[in-house]
Amino acid sequence: MKEIYRFQHKHILGIEQFSVADIYHILDTAVSFKEISNRSIKKVPTLKGKTVINFFFEPSTRTRLSFEIAAKRMSADTFNISASTSSAQKGETLIDTACNLEAMKPDLIIIRHGSSGVPGLLTRHIDASIINAGDGTHEHPSQALLDTMTIREHKGSLEGLKIALVGDIAHSRVAHSNILAFTKLGAEVRVAGPATFMVPHLDLLGARVCSSVEEAVTDADVVMALRIQQERQDDPLIPSLREYAQFYGINHSLLQHAKPNALIMHPGPINRGVEMNPDVADGKGSVILEQVTNGVAVRMALLYLIIGQEGGKTE
Ligand code: CP
Repeated sequence: MKEIYRFQHKHILGIEQFSVADIYHILDTAVSFKEISNRSIKKVPTLKGKTVINFFFEPSTRTRLSFEIAAKRMSADTFNISASTSSAQKGETLIDTACNLEAMKPDLIIIRHGSSGVPGLLTRHIDASIINAGDGTHEHPSQALLDTMTIREHKGSLEGLKIALVGDIAHSRVAHSNILAFTKLGAEVRVAGPATFMVPHLDLLGARVCSSVEEAVTDADVVMALRIQQERQDDPLIPSLREYAQFYGINHSLLQHAKPNALIMHPGPINRGVEMNPDVADGKGSVILEQVTNGVAVRMALLYLIIGQEGGKTE
């Protein structure tokens, strides 16, 4: 007898926790929610009565706002708190703050933090569900899911695709989550960037480390540039942004090596003229703003799967 699939997760901490079936279930759920954002009345009652707190210790435009929009489109009550406006400024510890948020009985806390592992740490102290909205250099699972959704929309499947990730791999939680998601779905992931932006374990994650950007991009179906995460570097790891742009920036000449219908992606925010030329970011094949649109749909799906279905959550 065929086993009935159930999404069993209480928290979303990283792509690492997901099976292939989980990823397809999230993507299919996101597809079913996407059209709500095209309606004139963009609201459904799915999460009426649920309380969602956005707790962001690092700046964010896309992730924070799209989680809030997703929650509001599903009728949840949403609240935002940032490190700069919280009592963390007065010396309260992270765990004390989280326990105080928990005392107000939220159903879900969405957290972004500069330290890897913070969302996982909080699951050991509070009962509410936790979604990781980006933790240090570790993972950014909702970004990887929206990237996967965007590629799947255009290419049908990730199976056998060649996907190039170019830039600051070492400090990028997006790179780590995307390598895990793309390889789980059968893509070949190539990474390239300055040696100071690489880490030794990338092949263990399933990525192929290329010796040049040209090698990574050759015959690629998808080319994704990653932002230089200067906030995670104590000392500069590249000589200058101008040289970086010259050797690692995505431009039309480099894209001659990729497939003619290659998708051009960037998780944002873009440093135009550094990681990617403006005419590439705004040009043929660019799906950068589609990634943002799909971010709302993916986050609606995650909210529904985590707090919109009753019972049976184990993880
Ligand atoms: N991609 C991403 O995480 O963007 P924000 O930092 O604006 O949320």
